[in-house]
Amino acid sequence: ALPVVAIVGATGAVGVELLECLEQRDFPLSELRLLASPRSAGKTMTFKGKEITIQALDENSFNGVDIALFSAGGSISKVYGPIAVKAGAVVVDNSSAFRQDPDVPLVVPEVNPEAVKQHKGIIANPNCSTIIALVPLWPLHAKNRITRFIAATYQAASGAGAAAMEELREGTRAYLEDRPFTPTVLPHPYAFNLFSHNAKVDPANGYNEEEMKMVKETWKIFGDADIRISATCVRVPVLRAHSEALTVEFERPITPAEVKDILATAPGVRIVDDWEKNYFPMPVDASGQGDILVGRIRQDISDPSGHSIQLFVAGDQLLKGAALNAVQIAELL
Ligand code: A2P
Repeated sequence: ALPVVAIVGATGAVGVELLECLEQRDFPLSELRLLASPRSAGKTMTFKGKEITIQALDENSFNGVDIALFSAGGSISKVYGPIAVKAGAVVVDNSSAFRQDPDVPLVVPEVNPEAVKQHKGIIANPNCSTIIALVPLWPLHAKNRITRFIAATYQAASGAGAAAMEELREGTRAYLEDRPFTPTVLPHPYAFNLFSHNAKVDPANGYNEEEMKMVKETWKIFGDADIRISATCVRVPVLRAHSEALTVEFERPITPAEVKDILATAPGVRIVDDWEKNYFPMPVDASGQGDILVGRIRQDISDPSGHSIQLFVAGDQLLKGAALNAVQIAELL
């Protein structure tokens, strides 16, 4: 029989995209169950032309569910993930709650699909900035080991949820109309501004949690904890696609031509690198796309030994950074 699939957090920024991905990819299922907070219970969402009534999440929500896609935040995952597993479901969790648990595979289907087999009920979907960097870096790493990379991110509002996207719209309107506006979702004014990622900063080293996720999750997904990684994560006033500047050092010398050659056939990657027209990856072009856009492919002139490459990438945070990756994991199941 076809699986029963549940979306936990169906009304959220990622939840809406999960439903959309299941529909567009014609995911084989016998029933789709939509779960959210009591605030949304009784409202409906449309799946394949049919209205489905949203139910309030509770301990009995997972009876009969085979695959549960969680995107309602870490605290909901921690409480209800194990309940779903006990009810017989396999959980694909979008939060960071279980990502570093040694019993939980952390999967990017283009990178480590075989890791899915090791699951004990829960599979974790990686951090969005991590996924967007690793899809193009993996095929390069496979040919010429990456020894070090440095990332600077330009992250969209969507990573902080639907309310943050709305706050960006509202704050921008207020700014243009010269009205005062006090942000309540994000800690700083967002319109015509940018700020260091709002994740907690570790007093020991000054890195915020988002930056350390990129470090530790890359180690786990690549199965290589010797890669030296550093990141600076920044929120920019973009709605739903993240961009990243990547400086990547390889074990052996490498040329931009080789990088282009490898990425031209890499799954999930599209090269956008027109030097003449100055056309490169942009969040508006990445939005709504499953592929990670990769451009600015050039030799890093600060490393005359020829081991280092610069890239600029953009990917839809809600799709490949979250919902699409989770649905691809469910497809592997
Ligand atoms: P709701 O819309 O009913 O509040 P986002 O990441 O965009 O902020 O979305 C968060 C998602 O998590 C929403 O679907 C939200 O549902 C859901 N959610 C929040 N709190 C709970 C809760 N206590 N129980 C179930 N779902 C929740």
